[in-house]
Amino acid sequence: MELTTDRLQLDRLHPDDAAALYACRADPAVARFQGWRPGSVGEVRVFIDAQTEPVPGLWFQRAIRLREGHALIGDLGVCLPATPGDSVEFGISLAPAHQGNGYAREALQALFRQGFDVLGWRRIHASVDPRNNACVALLQALGMRQEAHFRESLWLHDEWVDDVVFAMLAREWQAA
Ligand SMILES: CC(C)(COP(=O)(O)OP(=O)(O)OC[C@H]1O[C@@H](n2cnc3c(N)ncnc32)[C@H](O)[C@@H]1OP(=O)(O)O)[C@@H](O)C(=O)NCCC(=O)NCCS
Repeated sequence: MELTTDRLQLDRLHPDDAAALYACRADPAVARFQGWRPGSVGEVRVFIDAQTEPVPGLWFQRAIRLREGHALIGDLGVCLPATPGDSVEFGISLAPAHQGNGYAREALQALFRQGFDVLGWRRIHASVDPRNNACVALLQALGMRQEAHFRESLWLHDEWVDDVVFAMLAREWQAA
């Protein structure tokens, strides 16, 4: 799956992306609410090498690049359901220098268009720490509904944290 928007290109990660992806994902502000905080560029290179074409039930990652200059500014993870028709999950990260420009919204709108309008996805969801205000605002701006709030359900970075689930159905996307 490759997506192009007015300002962005979402495509496969390449070994050359390792340093830029490490700089983004190892940044404490980016890693704070996420399970993966790479410890080295080498670890990111192994992660990139392990990427395959999308396989149901497994996460795959796409680079988020600026179309102008092709710099990697973040990544989008997608997990296709193991059972057809089940929910598609996603997660997104942007390097702090590129936040606040609407890039995340633009990337996810392209994902939703492709998933719902072209690929026939039925449902999409994302799970977020409720303290992650930027992500909660992003999911709300996309028109997603909060469906669940699990109290202290995940062990992350040495503490039990809450997990909030936002979702959208194809018909809700099409109605909006
Ligand atoms: C979650 C995350 C991707 C959101 O990034 P973001 O930059 O806030 O989101 P967007 O790119 O959509 O930017 C939206 C903001 O840009 C502003 N903006 C500026 N120019 C814009 C444009 N041309 N179009 C749309 N919005 C624009 C919007 O007004 C909005 O700000 P506001 O809501 O305060 O008004 C980012 O905070 C992040 O990477 N966090 C760390 C990783 C993480 O926790 N990920 C979540 C795991 S699921």
